[in-house]
Amino acid sequence: MSAKLWDGRFAAPTDKVVEKFTSSIDIDRRLYRHDIEGSTAHCRMLAKVGIISTEEMNTLVSGLATIGQEIEDGKFVYDDRLEDIHMHIEDRLGQLVGPVARKLHTARSRNDQVALDTRLYLRAQTDMVIAMLKGLREVLVETAHAQLGHIMPGYTHLQRAQPVLLSHHLMAYYEMFTRDSGRFADARVRMDISPLGAAALAGTTFPIDRAYTAELLGFSEIAANSMDAVADRDFMLEFLAAASITMVHFSRLAEELIMWSSKEFGFIELPDAFATGSSIMPQKKNPDIPELVRGKTGRVFGDLVALLTTMKSLSLTYNRDMQEDKTPLFSTVDTVKAVIEVVTRMLPHIRFNTATMRHESGTGFLNATDMADYLVGQGMAFREAHGVVGRAVAHALAQGKELHELPLEEMQAFAEVIDADLYEALKLERVVDRRTSAGGTAAACVRAAIAKAREDLAGESQPGQEGPAS
Ligand code: ARG
Repeated sequence: MSAKLWDGRFAAPTDKVVEKFTSSIDIDRRLYRHDIEGSTAHCRMLAKVGIISTEEMNTLVSGLATIGQEIEDGKFVYDDRLEDIHMHIEDRLGQLVGPVARKLHTARSRNDQVALDTRLYLRAQTDMVIAMLKGLREVLVETAHAQLGHIMPGYTHLQRAQPVLLSHHLMAYYEMFTRDSGRFADARVRMDISPLGAAALAGTTFPIDRAYTAELLGFSEIAANSMDAVADRDFMLEFLAAASITMVHFSRLAEELIMWSSKEFGFIELPDAFATGSSIMPQKKNPDIPELVRGKTGRVFGDLVALLTTMKSLSLTYNRDMQEDKTPLFSTVDTVKAVIEVVTRMLPHIRFNTATMRHESGTGFLNATDMADYLVGQGMAFREAHGVVGRAVAHALAQGKELHELPLEEMQAFAEVIDADLYEALKLERVVDRRTSAGGTAAACVRAAIAKAREDLAGESQPGQEGPAS
């Protein structure tokens, strides 16, 4: 290893424990590709404005490419003494191309460099997350389409409320994940800004061309303020916040899958390939996958809170505290991608016990609202109808019956306006299909929602790619 790249003013070598304490190479080495990409663009810009010669630029750029290859081939040697990935690459460049390597860092600081690397990294990861979420949304829509026509109990307070289509329930998650995808896309807009050229904090005396490096790296804008460019990490916080909200949605889906696969609900059977057994109880088939999805939500929330806490109250501009940003960021990126992947793979293999769902929808007075609506149709005020049905429910409960199992004469004792056509109004299909208000659970509405979702998905292009307007 060569001497430290910043040791000119130091008389004593760094303490070993300090080297270990300050090193971030084990974490930030995964930024190597973006570091090389950023340095390459920086070199090209330095040559363009005449700070280095074209020949020097070529030497540096090919040296950087060699390092990229060495890292990819697993031949690169890491060393705590070199702190981070930026130092490692610059140091290795010196070994490969000699003294000209020392020109690479002209008009640049590790402060704008690390802000650049993490923006490049996160922009690519965000695109990946959005693409993966699209895959999940497609699976949800296709599952909803395949399950059209099946009725299940809908709940509020986890108490049976009104029957809904299973497809409607699934499409609710489609909506949630669509908004999540939109949040990642929104965050990407503010991520897509180049900090390069801010240097340490104040800009630089060299005649650099920030727009050129931004263009080479595919950024849509350059940061307007050099201090802000190196001091803030809100682009990461936005990603972590979007990821946390996404995990809220996953945790709710996971919770439902766990409940639905219990004997108590019996609504679904999880695929064998996505469940695990017990080491002691031979009969067990446990929903470990949704449980872990639910559990990993805590990790992602923790990552958001960790970075919020790290950034809180930091005076401008760069502070070394900010090196702690990468651990939560990488942890959330990995977790969210793993969760999207496993859920997307599992969903198409879930077996829905639609007969059970339908049977359970017929018990627990899920058609009570419809009896009240029927009475309103007969001219009764809704509040009065509510009272009538409440008394009918109490009566039916005492008899151990459902509303539609009460004979007409008993029904008429609660309200004279009741006719035999009430029983038609209490039928499950009717109950579902009369809910035709926009966004309702009627089959026609759900079909339309599925058609619209398919159309939207087909028209969506990935951010950063040319394609039909999204
Ligand atoms: N490893 C550092 C980080 O991740 C890079 C920036 C270091 N800057 C500095 N002034 N020490 O934040």
